[in-house]
Amino acid sequence: MKRFLKVDDIGDLQIALKEAEIQKKNPFGFSYLGKNKTIIILFFNSSLRTRLSTQRAAMNLGMNVIVLDVNKDSWKLESEMGVIMDGDKPEHLREAIPVIGSYCDIIGIRSFATFEDKEADYQEKLLNQFIQYSGVPVISLESATRHPLQAFADLFTIEEYKTVQRPKVVLTWAPHPRALPQAVPNSFVEWMKKADVELVVTYPEGYELAPEFTDGVTVEYDQEKAFEGADFIYAKNWASFSEYGQVLSTDRNWMVDEEKMALTNNAKFMHCLPVRRNMIVSDGVIDSPQSIVVDEAANRIVSAQVVIKRMLEKL
Ligand code: CP
Repeated sequence: MKRFLKVDDIGDLQIALKEAEIQKKNPFGFSYLGKNKTIIILFFNSSLRTRLSTQRAAMNLGMNVIVLDVNKDSWKLESEMGVIMDGDKPEHLREAIPVIGSYCDIIGIRSFATFEDKEADYQEKLLNQFIQYSGVPVISLESATRHPLQAFADLFTIEEYKTVQRPKVVLTWAPHPRALPQAVPNSFVEWMKKADVELVVTYPEGYELAPEFTDGVTVEYDQEKAFEGADFIYAKNWASFSEYGQVLSTDRNWMVDEEKMALTNNAKFMHCLPVRRNMIVSDGVIDSPQSIVVDEAANRIVSAQVVIKRMLEKL
């Protein structure tokens, strides 16, 4: 595996889920693979789970890990080609990327949507420069449009907790005071479409995701109707795609609370975290036995470990 950016990069989901199960049962079983190998994980944005779980996964596989918080610990990096570099960015990505690649065997990179330019975000300009110039395998630790390690962990968590063969999984928009990227819901939909689940997506009008992700997906604008009979409720906020990056609604009626959870088939509550309590979800739901957000976050180690292991095997 040379890159991990989206669901197609993992291949057969059943095989990937089986590998995840093996990695979880025996996390140090492949520690010989990473001997004398180094992963550099680069963060252009803040992180708790992605940073720590990827580190832990690489360490379980015997790798050396270097973490770089680009905005804090490095030169400011220019990304535009052809510019006169007379501003506050003393280094260009065109040099920085191959230099970083020369120090490691695998690169992981986290960078959010800028919300300045929809086309530039959806073209994944930054991530593609790393693929083009680093010379080593690249893992997306969340990009402008996708968060594949999160979606893989989400799917594995659903597999662990499901009580029926084909569970009803509901992705619901929920309110948030700030504009958040579409990466998590995009990837969640992308992965669930390929999984053996009944997927329903619910959001207020104006929050339609990019058609490339939601084509063929069941959309229900009535949140309570969507919740009926659900086995999993996956809450997430995202900013508008059509009015790119705008917050069109902060309607608190979309928060996931006990009353709405009572409409479900005793559904498990999921969220990628971090989550704003009593905005996205009530204390009563997230503190209830129905909430599996911590187990879901713990499975981020598992998804990262499957991906890094596959890359190590192909070095
Ligand atoms: N879910 C997730 O990616 O968490 P962090 O932003 O803390 O990495």
